[in-house]
Amino acid sequence: VKILGLPGEMRAAADKARLEGLRIGLVPTMGFLHEGHLSLVRKARTLSDFLVVSVFVNPVQFGPGEDLDSYPVDAQRDEELCERQGVDIIFSPGRDRMYAENHSVCVDEEELSSGLCGAHRPGHFRGVLTVVAKLFNIVQPHVAVFGQKDAQQVRVVQRMVRDLDMSVEIVVVPTVREPDGVAMSSRNAYLSGEERRRARRVYEALCLAEKLCRDGNRDTALIKGEMTGLLAEGSPPIEIEYVETVDYETLKPVDRVERPTLVAVAARIGRARLIDNIVLGG
Ligand code: PAF
Repeated sequence: VKILGLPGEMRAAADKARLEGLRIGLVPTMGFLHEGHLSLVRKARTLSDFLVVSVFVNPVQFGPGEDLDSYPVDAQRDEELCERQGVDIIFSPGRDRMYAENHSVCVDEEELSSGLCGAHRPGHFRGVLTVVAKLFNIVQPHVAVFGQKDAQQVRVVQRMVRDLDMSVEIVVVPTVREPDGVAMSSRNAYLSGEERRRARRVYEALCLAEKLCRDGNRDTALIKGEMTGLLAEGSPPIEIEYVETVDYETLKPVDRVERPTLVAVAARIGRARLIDNIVLGG
């Protein structure tokens, strides 16, 4: 695997591959790769001849007081894992290489990003879309692969591609879970043993929603109430940021599960902010 740190070098390598008729795949990441990322990389590998994994902890998607400065990093391990998966290029630009000092153009999505994480992390999706648009412009991939764990991110990126006529296919890969159900996340590294055990309850709450729905309960107030009850059990209770049921297309809250419905949770356990989701109905 070749490591490139400059947008210009990355663009030149991708241009060359494109001229050779290769199909270019991109997996955007913030590094500290885990099995969830590797499932994206494997999928992208099957869909492309020239595979780029970007590793960039994007400062503009973090708010004040968030974990930008403590975000876990392990460049050597990332390199080994990418090597093993047959990645062609790791694009890991320095912060000052990605953004000009007087950078002043951003991408804003004004509908899908207003609720869920967008409501709790002002400016987050503007930061995500801006960096994803920049990565798409530098690499100009034929296909880019994202994880369903960040369901709102997926929907917002899909909307950007549609509304700005970007010529990249977005492929979504299901969430990869630990054997006890906890969704893989780089931020799980923040959890102590006891906190890690408590984190299971997030997945249990999603399973409860699925069971209630399977048993014929379509009322989302009831589903959210049961989920919140489960999350609040035990001490110390999990600090819930939100438990939401939204239409999968519009991401607007729904009263009943009648069409595909995203059930999404954001919770704080210790210093980790964890998100997870499932899709019900439809
Ligand atoms: O999902 C992530 O890791 C990030 O939000 C992304 C897509 C790499 C943009 O920085």
